[in-house]
Amino acid sequence: MLEDLLPSVVTWVRATPPMWEAPLLPEEQVYVERVVEKRRREFTAGRTCAREALRQLRAESTPLLRDDSRRPIWPEGYVGSITHCRDFCAAAVARIADCQGVGLDVEKAQGLEEGVRRKICTDREQRRFSQLPRLPGGAWETLTFSAKESLYKCYSPIYDTFLEFHDVEVDFHPDAREFRVRCLREVPGRERFSEFCGRYSWEEGYLGTSVLLMASSEESQS
Ligand SMILES: CC(C)(COP(=O)(O)OP(=O)(O)OC[C@H]1O[C@@H](n2cnc3c(N)ncnc32)[C@H](O)[C@@H]1OP(=O)(O)O)[C@@H](O)C(=O)NCCC(=O)NCCS
Repeated sequence: MLEDLLPSVVTWVRATPPMWEAPLLPEEQVYVERVVEKRRREFTAGRTCAREALRQLRAESTPLLRDDSRRPIWPEGYVGSITHCRDFCAAAVARIADCQGVGLDVEKAQGLEEGVRRKICTDREQRRFSQLPRLPGGAWETLTFSAKESLYKCYSPIYDTFLEFHDVEVDFHPDAREFRVRCLREVPGRERFSEFCGRYSWEEGYLGTSVLLMASSEESQS
């Protein structure tokens, strides 16, 4: 699934069983001292995947701290994203010269309850679901949820602005397994929403999405 979601400029690592129990750096360990076991394991897997992706990109090894909004603080010159869902965890990292933002999200492939679906999806998005082809092992509303989470993970570190689920609308293009996002509210960076590129995919039991904001051609040449 991850190979369908991420282009070659993004290095990704999916957690193997030992990575959920790998040692954290002391500066990271403080984040899990008073959390439940499930949270300790997912945090550990996410940090271990991220560190391995950064190593593959030849970044200097430093603790991956987080800011007040829970965003990972990536080493200078790099961007990335972490997702965990049950026994799935992965991190995706890129050089900022190639990619200005990365969002990655994986969800369990199951539908959403009626009330939750209405909170996540706009009326127009819900009307469109019936015109879309059947999604193997999943539901379009769950994919919409994941697409909006990926968008937020990509957008939030750049613009530091909260987005509500009804602030954006997702348009799926099933032939290419891609989606585009439109912004329905005046927010910082609104003019760049057409540049956010979304992809989706699935595997047994899981749906995944990614949103990337590629570097402009001048930036990638510098
Ligand atoms: C940030 C958020 C999207 C993360 O979702 P989640 O359900 O916890 O899902 P995941 O497990 O896939 O991702 C968690 C990881 O996201 C990362 N993350 C957390 N907040 C983040 C933010 N503001 N920006 C980017 N990444 C963030 C962290 O790495 C976190 O893992 P860690 O705490 O172990 O480091 C979600 O908690 C949230 O705040 N959503 C509300 C805003 C939103 O989605 N709006 C959509 C409108 S378009």
